[in-house]
Amino acid sequence: MSFSEEPVVKITNATIFQDNTTVLSELDVDIEKGEFVYLVGRTGSGKSSLLKTLYGDLPLRLGDIKVAGYNIRGLKSGDIPFLRRKIGIVFQDFELFYDRNVSENLHFVMKATGWKDKAKMKSRLAEVLMRVGLGAVSSKMPHQLSGGEQQRVVIARALLNEPQILFADEPTGNLDPEVSEGIMKLFLEINKSGTAVIMATHNHHFIKQFPARVLKCDKGKILDSKNEEFELTGMY
Ligand SMILES: Nc1ncnc2c1ncn2[C@@H]1O[C@H](COP(=O)(O)OP(=O)(O)OP(=O)(O)O)[C@@H](O)[C@H]1O
Ligand SMILES: [Mg+2]
Repeated sequence: MSFSEEPVVKITNATIFQDNTTVLSELDVDIEKGEFVYLVGRTGSGKSSLLKTLYGDLPLRLGDIKVAGYNIRGLKSGDIPFLRRKIGIVFQDFELFYDRNVSENLHFVMKATGWKDKAKMKSRLAEVLMRVGLGAVSSKMPHQLSGGEQQRVVIARALLNEPQILFADEPTGNLDPEVSEGIMKLFLEINKSGTAVIMATHNHHFIKQFPARVLKCDKGKILDSKNEEFELTGMY
């Protein structure tokens, strides 16, 4: 198999723990390059724990996981910045720096991830803001933007390093339905251009409206719509 055919996420017989409690076990899931995957399940079922493990925030103690070519088990803290350059992360609460404007927020990430050339940084910044449908916001402070616009800035930030996959943990959780749909459509658009997306959500209207593969955290296991049929009810 050539490198380009390798899944962007490969989970092999993994167990996800929080402290000494097993949250999810016997996980075997591959996510292919360019795939869109919903992650659903009741509150407390393990969605965020799984995502945190995938982006290197929760250590993997049992099993193997490969993300964008990195082995997550045994990942050293010094490797994490390199992993993070291959992936993008979007949370529910926007986590921008509120004392810096949009441009400074994005520059901060570029500097932290090794960008040096000022002209390239400037053009990349304009590119990602265009990509998320934001024009002239680079000198605005986050509080001068609506929630939906702030989330677009976060998505722009996640796109800076052309990630192979976006991990989105309830990215529309704090937004009203109309704005949420715009954000959902933006993720689909980004996905169309080749970036894989795994999105944790409680919004089953999205799944009906924009069908895609669904992983469901259920009773300590993961159900995969690729392998079996299951009810989407009981997600809340
Ligand atoms: N930092 C933590 N320390 C200890 N236990 C935790 C921690 N975070 C989560 N847990 C526990 O792990 C389990 C899974 O939680 P997780 O946050 O992954 O669920 P979730 O599916 O993301 O829920 P939600 O839909 O509410 O976001 C829960 O029992 C939770 O109490
Ligand atoms: Mg969660």
